[in-house]
Amino acid sequence: MCGIIGYVGELQDAARVVLNGLKKLEYRGYDSWGIAVIPSGSTAVSIEKHIGHISGAETMLPKGSLAIGHTRWATHGGVTEANAHPHVSCGGDIIVVHNGIIENFQELRDELSQHTFLSQTDTEVIPHLMEEYGKIPLEQAVSKALQRVKGSYAILVFSTREPEKMIAVRKESPLVIGLSSNGFFAASDAVPFLEYTTKAVDLDDGEMAVITRHHVEYYDIPSMAKKEKQQKKITWTAEAASKGDNAHYMIKEILEQPSALRNAVVQDKQKLTAFAKEVMNAKNLKLVACGTSRHAAIIGRYLFTKLGKKPADVYIASEFSYFADSSDADTVILAVSQSGETADVLDGLRKAKGKGARILSIVNVMGSTIDRMSDITLYLNCGPEVGVASTKAFLNQLAVFYLVAYTMAGKTEEGAKQIKDAAHVVEESIKLNNEKMKMLAQTIKKFEHVYFLARGVNFPIAIEGALKLKEISYVHAEGMPAGELKHGTLALIEKGTPVILINPTDYTYSDSLSNGMETKARGAFLIGLSNQINPVYDFFIQLPTPSNELLYPLVATVPLQLLAYYTACEKGLNPDKPRNLAKSVTVK
Ligand code: F6R
Repeated sequence: MCGIIGYVGELQDAARVVLNGLKKLEYRGYDSWGIAVIPSGSTAVSIEKHIGHISGAETMLPKGSLAIGHTRWATHGGVTEANAHPHVSCGGDIIVVHNGIIENFQELRDELSQHTFLSQTDTEVIPHLMEEYGKIPLEQAVSKALQRVKGSYAILVFSTREPEKMIAVRKESPLVIGLSSNGFFAASDAVPFLEYTTKAVDLDDGEMAVITRHHVEYYDIPSMAKKEKQQKKITWTAEAASKGDNAHYMIKEILEQPSALRNAVVQDKQKLTAFAKEVMNAKNLKLVACGTSRHAAIIGRYLFTKLGKKPADVYIASEFSYFADSSDADTVILAVSQSGETADVLDGLRKAKGKGARILSIVNVMGSTIDRMSDITLYLNCGPEVGVASTKAFLNQLAVFYLVAYTMAGKTEEGAKQIKDAAHVVEESIKLNNEKMKMLAQTIKKFEHVYFLARGVNFPIAIEGALKLKEISYVHAEGMPAGELKHGTLALIEKGTPVILINPTDYTYSDSLSNGMETKARGAFLIGLSNQINPVYDFFIQLPTPSNELLYPLVATVPLQLLAYYTACEKGLNPDKPRNLAKSVTVK
């Protein structure tokens, strides 16, 4: 869950190119960072490492045309300068950054006991292991070392002995090569090099890129057979990946949801139809995802049953691995993921695929591992999502589920029209609630516990609202089906406890209202989200009315995202960088 980037080329200040790239990758990890550069005309390396955020950082590193960098989210070893990457061999000539986990690092470290280790990281075994092979060409040393390594990795390496060459390798961690007229990049995703180029090559598992100023060559590891790779054009722009005049990425991404939703409708018709057909015909349909994406999947399940009369199971991806063995050729797995790189999802997919299951996916990042593992992928088309808390990707996941469900019912055009209408209503929901949520945040910030209740298709919005609030404002929040409240949680409601009831006037209205009243009778401060005011609410959040009651989840999500955002701001927290979390969870 770290970010890595390397650059080699004509630009003479590679360290600053890498520093700027790391700032754009910071959402992948932000407890410490480091850069290594070969200064122009030198064969020695200069390294800088720091603890803390990189956003405002400058570097004192000298100019040079090759540099690699890393922004860290600690897994092995605490947050210290010594544990920050890059890591080097004893001789100081082999320099490595790594995203992933080396599972057998302890065994290798024991074996390399004559080497001097300076950190507690798993990564540090790599340069020391390469050192064992003596003065052979760098790519051979990398290939040999990797034959000893178990685990997942995206690694960038260079050596002061071959100062114009950078090696990039990957297995189960993302790595993409950027091809510009001024040189080449290798990075965890394309965002950090978008201002230089939109031409890229996805590295696959078990592949190596050997990158010099003027060439990139690709090889299979360990055979070292040369291979041709397909170039792709990235459709995202540097502007879409910047936060512009907004204080944070999160608010930018909340506010751009209406236009993101309009883009969700732009799907390849043939693919959409084929996707819906596979969902419809699946004997066993399993939806697999984590966090916010799982909440979208739960709504997907409601839509599949309501519109397509198709039952499905939804699995938390980290638990799905334990059921994956029951998959077979009659199983269709539908993975939902913004990043397309979440390790828990990938692990389950690999196991299910190994048993013959078909893989469908709904992802945002084109060319991501989940995308490439899938038989059919539908894209979210919401542009890069940088804020750690997922917002616009969630709404677009819902939009894609609506489209699939309507297509299952033979009503694709109607579905598309409904989503376009919903984009207006979401716009209205933002206008109605932006200032109001700033106000409510001043109350919510004072509480330690908040409860979110809803029923039916709105229930996942209760758990999503709670997740948003807790992850960025550190207020403990619990979301649940409103009917479940009286089976335990009601005991926690006391005078003044905030309860947020998602209660549009749809088929869930009166039952949800009764559950809200039960909390009010125990002293709760009842906050109602509805298109209709009711005197029982102590605070009312107005929802505009969408064209179809199944669209309420889209409309109701927005004020809860705003509430979480403003509560974090009120508490002086940075909503883009919640403590202990990273956006792309590439470790299990
Ligand atoms: C919460 C959030 C996470 C992600 C989860 C899955 O705001 O962003 O819960 O939804 O880590 O990530 P993806 O969708 O990339 O698989």
